[in-house]
Amino acid sequence: MPQPRFRAIEGTRDYFDREGERFDRVLARAGEMFPRYGYARFRTPIFEDSELFARSLGDATDIVEKEMYTFQPGSDSLTLRPEGTAGIVRAYLQHGLDKRGGLVKLWYAGPMFRRERPQKGRQRQFHQVGVEAIGSGDPLLDAEVISLGLRFYESLGVAGVGLRLNSIGCRKPECRPRYRLILREAIQPRLGTFCRNCQARFERNVFRLLDCKVPQCRELARELPKSHENLCPECAEHFAAVRQAVEALGGSFSLDSDLVRGLDYYSRTVFEYTHESLGAQNALGGGGRYDGLAEELGGPPVPAIGFALGVERILIALEAGGACGCPPPLQAFGASRGEAARRAMAGLIARLREAGFSADLDYDDRSLKSQLRLANRRGALCCLILGEEELGRGEVIVKDMREGRGQAAASLFDCLGKVREILSC
Ligand code: HAM
Repeated sequence: MPQPRFRAIEGTRDYFDREGERFDRVLARAGEMFPRYGYARFRTPIFEDSELFARSLGDATDIVEKEMYTFQPGSDSLTLRPEGTAGIVRAYLQHGLDKRGGLVKLWYAGPMFRRERPQKGRQRQFHQVGVEAIGSGDPLLDAEVISLGLRFYESLGVAGVGLRLNSIGCRKPECRPRYRLILREAIQPRLGTFCRNCQARFERNVFRLLDCKVPQCRELARELPKSHENLCPECAEHFAAVRQAVEALGGSFSLDSDLVRGLDYYSRTVFEYTHESLGAQNALGGGGRYDGLAEELGGPPVPAIGFALGVERILIALEAGGACGCPPPLQAFGASRGEAARRAMAGLIARLREAGFSADLDYDDRSLKSQLRLANRRGALCCLILGEEELGRGEVIVKDMREGRGQAAASLFDCLGKVREILSC
């Protein structure tokens, strides 16, 4: 048998069939959901000046030290983007978006490149969807961004997402710089017990010792003074307001003093979404505030916050949850019990499709409960429920699937109006 001559490069992948459809579904959901929160689509180039990433992410970070794909055509040094935030802030400043006044909300999606050791959920070319809200330091915005990520996962049917939350303070001398000194003092006597990499980074950026992935260093880091216990009064107040607002929006989180994030541009709020299918070190997504980045890149001081969610990791979490491969998010799903109701439901779904709705039903004769679960996994916005009893009365139940919404009976012949009503709000 002749062997194919070429294979995808290690750490890169092809997407097709069910997985390809799911991939598209994640992107489509981002395009649907992020604009509802006020984010406009933004596209930046796939490569940028290498210096942009060194400045933004920090030159003592894993990414800048050893994971960038850098090439030198002529005298330029260019790098395939390892993440999206630096390019967005570069573009924000370049196009004078700061002069528009007020908050600028942008979302993006696309491939990112890091030369990491490939393993489950870790690739060299991977994809992110992300949002950046630039121009406000309001803790309510932090909470809105954090809960948008949770809602995004929820709407895709990713169940069991955890949220780790921390604050790493600001650049004022009494805040992070003071904490830096405290940390250095605590580490200095035991520096020899940290890995070689950490020892080398100690002078350049002591904070990087807190997110070293070597188990022995992680163990040592656990004993060190915590950032959220060393915040200046303003940052402590900000963080308290963020926690309160996240809770008010229905998000539960674990306060995690070990969470520092691996990039230098962060300040104040940092967070990560976790999922058990990914193991201990792999986050489903992450983000935080980067109030000093615009200034670092030569612009005015502009507070900002955002997140990026790894598409491949979402696919892993969906797979682990037994998600079906059916791609498009549904507007309506038909659940029924009993043969006559099932046939009537098939007719109803056909009418909905003809009227322009995306609609589907169960073909495997599952219990009503499983059908409702399936409707949820398919991201259905509303569910039509039909049993023998409803059929006898010439009615169907129309259930709004969004959290906390109710259901109502509608006439079998006139339920389109009810569906429209739910979908339009
Ligand atoms: P990050 O934590 O480096 O943050 O990456 C965000 C997400 O991208 C991770 O949680 C993970 O899901 C995914 N990811 C990262 N590296 C890989 C990889 N090698 N293979 C597969 N997936 C990966 C950032 O990139 C920041 N720009 C997030 C941000 C936006 N902060 C503020 N705004």
